[in-house]
Amino acid sequence: MESTPASESSPRGSTRLDSYVDRYAARTAGMTASEIRALFSVASRPEVVSLAGGMPNISGLPLDVVGGAIGELVAEHGAVAMQYGSGQGVPRLREQICEVMRLEGIDAHPDDVVVTVGSQQAVDLVTRIFCDPGDVVICEAPSYVGALGVFKAYQCDVVHAEMDADGLRPDALEQAIRAVKASGRRIKFLYTIPNYHNPAGISLSAERRPEILRVCREHDILVLEDNPYGLLGFDREPHRALRADEAEGVIYLGSFSKTFAPGFRVGWALAPHAVREKLVLAQESATLCPPQFSQMAVSAYLDNHDWQGQIKQFREMYRERRDAMVESLRDLMPAACRWNVPDGGFYVWLTLPPGIDAKAMLPRAVTARVAYVPGTAFFADGFGSGSMRLSYCYPTPERIREGVRRLAGVLEDELELRETFGAVPPTPHLPSSSPRSGYDGPASDLT
Ligand SMILES: Cc1ncc(COP(=O)(O)O)c(C=O)c1O
Repeated sequence: MESTPASESSPRGSTRLDSYVDRYAARTAGMTASEIRALFSVASRPEVVSLAGGMPNISGLPLDVVGGAIGELVAEHGAVAMQYGSGQGVPRLREQICEVMRLEGIDAHPDDVVVTVGSQQAVDLVTRIFCDPGDVVICEAPSYVGALGVFKAYQCDVVHAEMDADGLRPDALEQAIRAVKASGRRIKFLYTIPNYHNPAGISLSAERRPEILRVCREHDILVLEDNPYGLLGFDREPHRALRADEAEGVIYLGSFSKTFAPGFRVGWALAPHAVREKLVLAQESATLCPPQFSQMAVSAYLDNHDWQGQIKQFREMYRERRDAMVESLRDLMPAACRWNVPDGGFYVWLTLPPGIDAKAMLPRAVTARVAYVPGTAFFADGFGSGSMRLSYCYPTPERIREGVRRLAGVLEDELELRETFGAVPPTPHLPSSSPRSGYDGPASDLT
């Protein structure tokens, strides 16, 4: 008997790149690697200054104190800490989370808190319980790439609403809502990052907060308020959360990733009572329970360490890095570039001179040993090619200055090429997909 070639008989022997391609669920079509992810392998080389990733800089954490607390946790409560726990999360931690949220004006009960595996999982669970394929989620333009990935994976349609220097524009939100309703589609929620926005670096003004809530109330739209950076303002008290003034229409998401450490993967959702029940069921089906060990470690840290003092230290460190970035942008960038000056968080949004495509320029930047994230990563519809996100959270001030110097050099070359040959063509392996390369981006102060 003739033997069948391995490539025909078994999926594993197939010559196709992915022999399972015909069997995946339709929703996986939306699961593609983000531009940030694709960049990580190159940008993490030591010779490259990465202004791309948004990794919190936790070098200032007292590792001996954290280590001691974890050792004590294992020695004294190991049998509980290493056991399964409640799907809703550890009760003591939920009380502490309410204390954290009080800093932003939120008066909440621990019963309404669901602990999640980072706030990323909270975005996933909320989308899971609310969205059917084709449902619409309204997002700021631009928006957090990790949330856009979730919405895509659940086959939602993302509709963007514009921002300006004061954050999401209530009139743009209203317009987007009306347009979606007129098209006969259902809006499931507004996903918004009101404080120190990722990637735009701006915050929703105090005057606009009630306006955004009013528009959503009038149109019966739920608000998903994602707030991982709220306590990382440089020169001010925390902004008042949207959830502080609207308990029924808002699901609030928080995280210890930026104020403590992302490795514990502890975040949370604060939700109206009925929604909270559904979230717990969704959490149980996803993970049975969030990791008990991580929750108890975070709880011990909050109980035994000056966590607010630690956040103050983080804020000072990030402010110094923000200063290094905006000063070097001011000193080095070609005149036609614009950017905003963030007063908290991790990010600067930079708008390029007309005709320069951030995605097309990226390989040339990486060759010059500097990385950033092209604006297109933060739009569901291919816009944003004339912008980029620059992160100042991780590199030292010296490295930030060096990174901006390299980036300015790449841009100068790009502008010279444009002068000589017109618009610079995209490189074949990183094509530009933007239909709106003239997009201005949000809130770019001319500096
Ligand atoms: C706006 C926003 N939401 C959510 C997350 C997810 O954070 P985590 O899952 O670590 O809490 C991030 C992380 O960068 C973020 O920037």
